Amino acid sequence: MSIKDKVFDLPILFDVVRWCVLGSYKPMFSNLTKFVDHKDDETVLEIGCGTGIFSKLFKKNYTGVDFFDEFIVKAKREFPDKKFAVMDAMNMDFKDKSYDKVLLLNFLHHMDDDEFEKVMHECKRIAKKGVFIMEPVPQKYNLVGRVLYSLDRGKHIRDFFLLKDMLNNYSKVKRYHMFRSLFYKLVLIECV
Ligand SMILES: C[S@@+](CC[C@H](N)C(=O)[O-])C[C@H]1O[C@@H](n2cnc3c(N)ncnc32)[C@H](O)[C@@H]1O
Repeated sequence: MSIKDKVFDLPILFDVVRWCVLGSYKPMFSNLTKFVDHKDDETVLEIGCGTGIFSKLFKKNYTGVDFFDEFIVKAKREFPDKKFAVMDAMNMDFKDKSYDKVLLLNFLHHMDDDEFEKVMHECKRIAKKGVFIMEPVPQKYNLVGRVLYSLDRGKHIRDFFLLKDMLNNYSKVKRYHMFRSLFYKLVLIECV
């Protein structure tokens, strides 16, 4: 296991390092809140929820799953009013149309093309209303950003147009919104 893996496997360091390279979580939180436009009675499933930092944006009816049990332990401890479970995105057993909205936040670049296809099929099956994706966008002229992206454990950061084409193979990209968070450029996409 590399030093990078050891660092990012520690839930507290994972959160702190990300907070620093993103210059706080505020831009992600505010842009996601506006984009998802969550209603209190809607159910939400986040796949690859990590330490559950996004769960605080949803008052109730939030479930987060991740295959790394130490992240789920931290998420349960910090957000006891939300539901979390250890689960592999490649092997989920949620019923058809069992959640209004499904979220994939900073997650798809951890999937190779075959895994991407499988996850998107599952999301389409599970989501009643829509699938909401947040992904980093490659930036040609941002050297610091490029270095940080190269250190990311997700090895499949895709060009925006490629990502959009791939998503359109499994569902329909309804709208998208790009924003910055310090060294990162991120895109939010809604698929229906
Ligand atoms: C960059 S983190 C994003 C975490 C969270 N969505 C956030 O933005 O704070 C990617 C997460 O995906 C999880 N992950 C990667 N592959 C997975 C899989 N096959 N099933 C479930 N979780 C997975 C990792 O454990 C990690 O927590």
